[in-house]
Amino acid sequence: MKDLSDFRISYDKLSLIEQHLPKEPIKLFQIWFEELCKSNSVLEPNAMTLSTVSNENKPRNRVVLLKKFSEKGFVFYTNYKSKKGIDINNNPNVSISFFWPSFERQVIIEGICSKITNKESDKYFYSRPIDSQIGAIISNQSSEIPNRDYIENKFDSFKSDKTEILRPLNWGGYIINPINVEFWQGRKNRLHDRILYYKNDNSWLFKRLSP
Ligand SMILES: Cc1cc2nc3c(=O)[nH]c(=O)nc-3n(C[C@H](O)[C@H](O)[C@H](O)COP(=O)(O)O)c2cc1C
Repeated sequence: MKDLSDFRISYDKLSLIEQHLPKEPIKLFQIWFEELCKSNSVLEPNAMTLSTVSNENKPRNRVVLLKKFSEKGFVFYTNYKSKKGIDINNNPNVSISFFWPSFERQVIIEGICSKITNKESDKYFYSRPIDSQIGAIISNQSSEIPNRDYIENKFDSFKSDKTEILRPLNWGGYIINPINVEFWQGRKNRLHDRILYYKNDNSWLFKRLSP
């Protein structure tokens, strides 16, 4: 196997310059996201790493899918009783990050997480394929199960019972209200561009960070 210390790429495709920056980070996020979608070069551009912290101050990351973003925040869906749900209930401070290698770009967002309304969760839940709805209903996400058959049998018996499909109240969306948003653009010689948007009262300011 190749020595990991020999993996090295020079980043020189794009740049991030103050004169071209919008006032609000969500606008830049939208520009970057549209570029990703147009290029078709990124599989699941909405996959993001979500970090939460437990009540023992232990951090944990996992990938989830961003399903919506606006000036109000960044929305994802999950099981509220999962490990992440328990962490968020205890400490709503979370961080999400995206890495889009073909654009040599990273975005890191820190913010406060809260549940979206039941109505919004319903809307998304019932828009999913039926089998995904059943998957969400029958999985007590993050709890221990005895084996693979256990969960497949649970899925099959739910389907054959033809029970009415209702969104479980412990499955729904969270919105992350951003406090800090960092845009990272890979540059030559490891002199990357880093622009950090931060909140000052209720408006956004930005500063450049050393790479
Ligand atoms: C590409 C990808 C997308 C995923 N999207 C979600 C998602 O949107 N919601 C979710 O709950 N889990 C999603 N998962 C599974 C999570 O990574 C994780 O296994 C699960 O949420 C349980 O995490 P927890 O035990 O830390 O709460 C995704 C995994 C991958 C690899």
